[in-house]
Amino acid sequence: MTALMPKTPESTRVTLHQLMLPEHANALGNVHGGLIMKMVDEAGAIAAMRHAQRQCVTVAIDSMTFREPVHLGELLVCDARVTYVGRTSIEVTVHVHAENPITAVTTHTNSAHLVYVALGDDGRPCEVPRLVLETDEDRRAWEEGELRQKERLARRAREGRPRT
Ligand SMILES: CC(C)(COP(=O)(O)OP(=O)(O)OC[C@H]1O[C@@H](n2cnc3c(N)ncnc32)[C@H](O)[C@@H]1OP(=O)(O)O)[C@@H](O)C(=O)NCCC(=O)NCCS
Repeated sequence: MTALMPKTPESTRVTLHQLMLPEHANALGNVHGGLIMKMVDEAGAIAAMRHAQRQCVTVAIDSMTFREPVHLGELLVCDARVTYVGRTSIEVTVHVHAENPITAVTTHTNSAHLVYVALGDDGRPCEVPRLVLETDEDRRAWEEGELRQKERLARRAREGRPRT
């Protein structure tokens, strides 16, 4: 089945760019954190859907720390790569930076790890393709992702699953 063709992280990588305008500002005149979170989730979801070739939903977002403000007039750049896959879940790491389009100076503002679940035609979790690890960086990211996923599932087990 083509949908289960193994894929490399590079083949599904996504980079979203958006110019920050006054409509994206918070009360201090910098970019609103919620907008950054939305764009991070969007970039992550696209990478996950490219990997799964299925609709994917967000099941977990690890904590997000904003290291630097993003200013109006800068480009917000979200670079998303698949780092780890389970049977039906896909972890994507998104690096965010702000770029001054005139000077090309960039500032790393934050990174986030998100987990998506691929859905079958019945709306239930379905199997995803294997991730092909090509580089040492891919292998390191996989090991870290596997560890994070173990911690998330341990937390879920401790906290109990929400009623649906
Ligand atoms: C995603 C959803 C379908 C999973 O349903 P579920 O009954 O928990 O299914 P499962 O227990 O089989 O889990 C499916 C996968 O998610 C993973 N998962 C579930 N909860 C998780 C969590 N808190 N953190 C990380 N992974 C999690 C499981 O490990 C499993 O992955 P695996 O097959 O690779 O091991 C369901 O939780 C849901 O619909 N959530 C709402 C999604 C949503 O609306 N998102 C926001 C808009 S996109």
